[in-house]
Amino acid sequence: MEIERVQEIATLSNINGTIPKEFIRLENEQPATTTIHGVVLEVPVIDLSHPDQQSLVASIFEASKDWGIFQVVNHGIPNELISKLQKVGKEFFELPQEEKEVIAKPIGYQGVEGYGTKLQKEVEGKKGWVDHLFHRVWPPSVINHQFWPKNPPSYRDTNEEYTQSLIGVANNLLGLLSKGLELEEHELKQGLGGEDLVYMLKINYYPPCPCPELALGVVPHTDMSSITILVPNEVQGLQVFKDDHWYDVAYIPNALIIHIGDQIEILSNGKYKSVYHRTTVNKEKTRMSWPVFLEPPPEFEVGPIPKLINEDNPPKYKTKKFKDYVYCKLNKLPQ
Ligand code: OGA
Ligand code: NI
Repeated sequence: MEIERVQEIATLSNINGTIPKEFIRLENEQPATTTIHGVVLEVPVIDLSHPDQQSLVASIFEASKDWGIFQVVNHGIPNELISKLQKVGKEFFELPQEEKEVIAKPIGYQGVEGYGTKLQKEVEGKKGWVDHLFHRVWPPSVINHQFWPKNPPSYRDTNEEYTQSLIGVANNLLGLLSKGLELEEHELKQGLGGEDLVYMLKINYYPPCPCPELALGVVPHTDMSSITILVPNEVQGLQVFKDDHWYDVAYIPNALIIHIGDQIEILSNGKYKSVYHRTTVNKEKTRMSWPVFLEPPPEFEVGPIPKLINEDNPPKYKTKKFKDYVYCKLNKLPQ
């Protein structure tokens, strides 16, 4: 059975001006009826070079509590490195189809890594207008180079360089998030597996879509990660849910978008909220994004941090292995 990539479907769809019916969302999901058009939501923007630690901690705390999403600027990752990351990823997706298929998820394989198209377990068999590539980038012991593009040749070096920069930003953010909860700087990271914390890169590729008001890219969800650090390209598409409606998130060149994921919500016993988000697609332009999901190792148990629990604050979440959390969420079982 040949798997159809959205990138290929899009080529034909853009010629006839229609999309296959499995991409047409139910009316109550369509951007046409659910997006507040013309209003761009200003999620908090945090300057990581701010000299006053105390106020930095406070602003990240507020953003993570009220929004579960914020953008960071002056984060220390050079703009040129972000451009290079985007360039090599784009070059991979622009290769002839058969070259991309070399690193496709093997048929019947249960892992996450590889080039692919989500065969969604969704009601009524609907599909998202997006292809992706997943591969781990850190730590070295969990990297499978067979899922990294060999082409363009600079893909590997660029991604390794980006990962090194990102580790610095991640440690900084987890430290600041810990302090917001009046914990020691290392405690959130420790609660996620410490140095074994896994960095999983995803590249989303959303081709132009002739009917963007009827389709979705990634369907509404919260990330299962601890935090997700995302670089988008310049095409609008990320939306967050607020007051019963979907709003576009402002695009800020070279900013990193930080999503609070489920594991930080759990560790914080609900103080920090994982953000409900989705993506829309564009009529003329290809949208791409590069989220890196920071995940506990599969066997590592995550639960509310004991120091945050007392008689007035009983645990709101079960403590369980990350792999069991993922299994329940993917199969829509109670946690
Ligand atoms: C995701 C996601 C957002 C984006 O892949 O989990 O939410 O902007 N992506 O592409
Ligand atoms: Ni997401």
